[in-house]
Formats: sequence, structure tokens, C-alpha cells
Amino acid sequence: SKKIIIDCDPGHDDAMAIILAASSISNLQIEAITTVAGNVGVEKNTKNALRICDLVGLDDVPVAMGAARPLVREPFEAADIHGESGLDGTGLPEAPIKSLTEGHAVDVLIETLRSSEDGLKLVTIGPMTNIAMAIRKEPDISAKITEIVMMGGGTYGNRTAAAEFNMFADAEAAKIVFESGVPIAMFGLDLTHQALATPDKLKALQAIDNTVAETVVDMIKFYSSAYKGKFAGAALHDPCPIAYLIDPSICEFQQAVVDVETHGEFTYGMTVADFKGRTDRKPNVEFATWLDQDKFWQLFLDGLRTY
Ligand code: BDR
Ligand code: CA
Repeated sequence: SKKIIIDCDPGHDDAMAIILAASSISNLQIEAITTVAGNVGVEKNTKNALRICDLVGLDDVPVAMGAARPLVREPFEAADIHGESGLDGTGLPEAPIKSLTEGHAVDVLIETLRSSEDGLKLVTIGPMTNIAMAIRKEPDISAKITEIVMMGGGTYGNRTAAAEFNMFADAEAAKIVFESGVPIAMFGLDLTHQALATPDKLKALQAIDNTVAETVVDMIKFYSSAYKGKFAGAALHDPCPIAYLIDPSICEFQQAVVDVETHGEFTYGMTVADFKGRTDRKPNVEFATWLDQDKFWQLFLDGLRTY
């Protein structure tokens, strides 16, 4: 099975990504979960990560808290989508039972990578502050990251016309990651907006009779309200990279040179993808373009049935 670290800001869809990963222990081994400021503040995101670990029984996976602020800019949160707690609308116990691992997420990332023999895949589903800090602190760890599997960016935005949230929340960090030389599989909005929890999908989820599936239904219902009128359902952004790791055949990619805008007046956080070789540089990204929706939902529903 593939060894992974999940760096996240739960967040409803982050929570669902963790739930999906934990459902597939034969395919994925979660070595650590690290948290970052993003959807809400890092303390709340961390507490939510612990609550999700309690829900799915990830008792032995270390959870470490990371950066409370982006590298350069002021924090920018998404409580409008995920609620004040970052995970509003569920019946999860308020206080986690699982305890936090000592040490900063950046150091846990470094140590986990260093102690892995064959390297690890790094799943980033929040702003990339921790990853950028880890790469700057100990540059040699890049060689231990076999792939960064990232949710973020796209050819259009959701926070601004140009920028997706994870990029907008810390574009300077994203820049360090894009320039790191580590192979990147990027799941931007072009891809994740193909994973919409439409009413028929919600119905299929409701037919699964266990607490985890019920919690997922609550989560989707809560954050669907933020999408009302714009999309046919809530986009399950963060589960997409996990689904790809479980079954790489669920999507198609196009190679690109991707940069992230850190200066633009209208474009801060925009990912600029060169698909046509205009920049004459070696592609740094496998840019996910197409999702096999049937396979994705099959995989998601099957995962929830395991609980
Ligand atoms: C991303 O932003 C966050 O709100 C979600 O958790 C996801 O990682 C989507 O733009
Ligand atoms: Ca996220």
C-alpha cells in the first residue's frame, strides 16, 4: 500500500478526504496528518482533524498542528463555507478523545519523511504553508517526497475570479512548492467541480446505514447550502486526490508548467498553466483535467460502506 501524509485544514471536504483515505487501508497507509490555518484557524482545524480520527478509528496516526498564519499575507478564512467551527452541521462530539502529537507539523513532516525508506506521497488539501516551511528548513526532504498530490488552483478561481482558495490563502507558499522540483499531481477546480454531490448522490449516501456515512451526509448538507444556486451540488474537492491515490485510473491529466501569481492586483493566487510549451520549461505538474464520475462515486460509496 502507498504511504501518505495528509496536510489539511478540516473543513468539510478535508474531513471527507480523511474518511475516504481511512476507509482504504489496503491501498493507503496514513503515516501522519498535519494541519494548517485555512478554512478556519489552525487550532480549530486541528481539533476537527482529531474529531475525524476519533470517528473513523485512526487511533495510531499522529496528528500535528502546524502554521497559524500564511508565510507573508494576512490570514484569510472560509468560515462562510464551513461554519464558525470549520465543521458545522455535524453531530460529532465537541471535544476530541485523541490527543495531539507533540511538535510542530513542519518538524513532524520533516521527521516522517526522513525516517521513511522509500519516500512518501504528500497529499496537500489546504494552503501549503507547512510544506513550504519544511522545504525551506530542510531542503533535502524534497528527495523523500515521491509525489505531491495537491488540491488547489485551476484555470479559474472560487475565491476571486482568478484564484482558488488554497492558492489565495498562501500563494507565496504555493510558489515554493511549485518550484521545488517534486513531481506534482494537481487537482484544481477544473477537476473537482466534476465531483458534485448532486441530490441523487446524496440519496445513495443516505442509503448507507452507519454513523460515518450519516456524518458525511450531514457535512454535505451543511456545506451544500454555500453552493446553492451556483452548482448542482457541493464539490467534493479534497476527496479527489485521495480517490486518485486509491485508483489512479479515475482521472486524466495533461502536463503543464504551472506558476502561481504572487503580485497581481486582480490575480493574486491564480495558477497560470502553460499547456502548450510556451515557456520552454520542463513541465512541473500533471494537471488533472477529467474525472471518471461513475468510478469516483463508486469508490466513495464503497469506502463509506466499509464503516
Ligand atoms: C478548497 O478550499 C477549501 O475551502 C476546501 O477545503 C478545499 O481544500 C477548495 O477551493
Ligand atoms: Ca481543504
